[in-house]
Amino acid sequence: MSHGEAYAVVKGRIPEPEEKRRLYQQASDALTGMLAGETDGVLTMSTIAAVLHQSMPHYFWTGFYRVVGDALLVGPYQGTPACLRIAHGRGVCGSAWAEERTMLVKDVHAFPGHIACDARSASEIVVPWRDVSGAVVAVLDVDSDQTAAFDEIDQEWLENLAAAFPGTNG
Ligand code: SME
Repeated sequence: MSHGEAYAVVKGRIPEPEEKRRLYQQASDALTGMLAGETDGVLTMSTIAAVLHQSMPHYFWTGFYRVVGDALLVGPYQGTPACLRIAHGRGVCGSAWAEERTMLVKDVHAFPGHIACDARSASEIVVPWRDVSGAVVAVLDVDSDQTAAFDEIDQEWLENLAAAFPGTNG
């Protein structure tokens, strides 16, 4: 089977914990196979965004913002056209970069300074992406159109993926 045929997710539903873990395990296994021996940054980010977005029913927008100078610039993503640039410390993505920690936002409307690229986004998780030296070179941003779609299960698996597939700055 080719890579694409395995994916046929129906959107708009938050999986139960058991199913969520199973979907992350499958996505992680698929990425481990596909990305074996690969180090190119765009190749890696594109493939992670595609596999996650096409695997997860609760993902509405899935993609990377790259650290370029003093701003985050949009990188490989799946979803509706997004904000192009985010300043250091601004919004959920800029905060995750500045604070170098995962931001888990159950209700984006309650997050001061949230940047609404698409009004349908209701909850969000943003995970810093480091290179092999430990420097944050990007963030992975996932939005859901449902409130409280993300929890500690998403955080644990996405942080594991960040550790398994380090970013590159370039
Ligand atoms: N909501 C994000 C901006 C990026 S978009 O959602 C794709 C934020 O507040 O940083």
